[in-house]
Amino acid sequence: MLKIALIGSTGMLGIDLNAALKGVNFLVKNYNSKNLDIADPKTVNEALGVFKPDYIINSAAYTNVDGAEIEKEKAEAVNSAGVQNLADAALSLGSRIVHISTDYVFDGSKKTPYTEDDITNPINEYGISKLGGEEALKNSGASYIILRTSWLYGKNGKNFVNTILKLADSKKRIEVVEDQFGCPTYTKDAAYAISEIIIKDNSKNEIYNLTNGGYTSWYKFAVEIVNVFKRTNCEIIPVSSDKVARPAKRPACSILDNSKIKEDYNIELRNWKDALKKYCNDIGYFII
Ligand SMILES: NC(=O)c1ccc[n+]([C@@H]2O[C@H](COP(=O)([O-])OP(=O)(O)OC[C@H]3O[C@@H](n4cnc5c(N)ncnc54)[C@H](OP(=O)(O)O)[C@@H]3O)[C@@H](O)[C@H]2O)c1
Repeated sequence: MLKIALIGSTGMLGIDLNAALKGVNFLVKNYNSKNLDIADPKTVNEALGVFKPDYIINSAAYTNVDGAEIEKEKAEAVNSAGVQNLADAALSLGSRIVHISTDYVFDGSKKTPYTEDDITNPINEYGISKLGGEEALKNSGASYIILRTSWLYGKNGKNFVNTILKLADSKKRIEVVEDQFGCPTYTKDAAYAISEIIIKDNSKNEIYNLTNGGYTSWYKFAVEIVNVFKRTNCEIIPVSSDKVARPAKRPACSILDNSKIKEDYNIELRNWKDALKKYCNDIGYFII
C-alpha cells in the first residue's frame, strides 16, 4: 500500500484531498501546522523520518494573498523555505513530492491561456513566495510534480463562492471586478484528479496546470453563482479593478492551459460551470 504524507490536511483543498486519497486505499497520514510546521526543518525531518512516505503531497501554504504584502517573511517562510524543507526531507527519504502551486506565479499580461513553459513573473508577495517554493523544489534534486491551480473554492474554506453567497443574503447589490480573468476550480475535482495522477504517475519531474475547464471573469463568476444558488434578488454590478482598492495586485489574466495534463495523464476536469452546479448539489442551495 502506498504511503502518503498529506501536508496541509486541514485546508480547503487538503480536506477534499484526504477524502479522495482514502477512497483509493492509500495509507494516508495527515499533517497540519499543529503537528508539522513546514517552516521548521527539524519537525519536518522528525515527522516524515518516522513515517517514510512514498509520496509527500504539499497542500500547505500561507494563502492570505493580501496579508502576504505585510507578512512577507511569514509567507516566504512557509511558501518558499517550507517547500525547501519538504524537498530536502523527500530527497533524503526517497519520497516523491506532489506540490500545489498557483496561477499567481504569472503577471497576467498574456492575452491567451498560460502554458507551463510561459515565463513566470509574479506581481504580488504571495506569488513571489509561491514561485520561490517551485524553484526550491525544482533545484532540490527531489523527485517532483508541481500542479498549478487557480481560483479554488470548496466546502471547507474561505473562498469567493461562499463570500458571494453570504453577501447576496444581506445585500441588494454587490460590485465585482469584470476585468480579471481566470479558471474557477472546485477543490473536490482537483483532489480526485491529484489522486488519479498518483495512480497513473509517470515518474517524470514536471509542472502541470490543473484547473476546471474554460475561463471567466470574477464578475461573470459571481453572476453564475447567484443564478445557480438562486440568490437572484441580489444584483451583481460589474466594476473595473482600479475601483477596488486591495493591498495585493492581482493578475489581469491568469487563465491556465490544461492541455499538458490531458496529454500526459489523460486528465481533464469538467467545465467550471458544471463544477459550480456540482458544488451546489454537494452542499445544498441554502447551507452556507
Ligand atoms: N485558495 C485558492 O484560491 C488557491 C488558488 C491557487 C492555488 N492555491 C494553492 O492551493 C493550495 C491549497 O490552498 P487552500 O486554499 O486549500 O489553503 P488553506 O485552506 O489556506 O489551507 C492551508 C493549509 O496549510 C496549512 N499550513 C499553513 N501553514 C503551515 C505550516 N507552517 N506548516 C504546516 N502546515 C501549514 C494549514 O494548516 P492549519 O489548519 O494548521 O493552519 C492548512 O492545512 C496552496 O498551496 C495554495 O497556495 C490556492
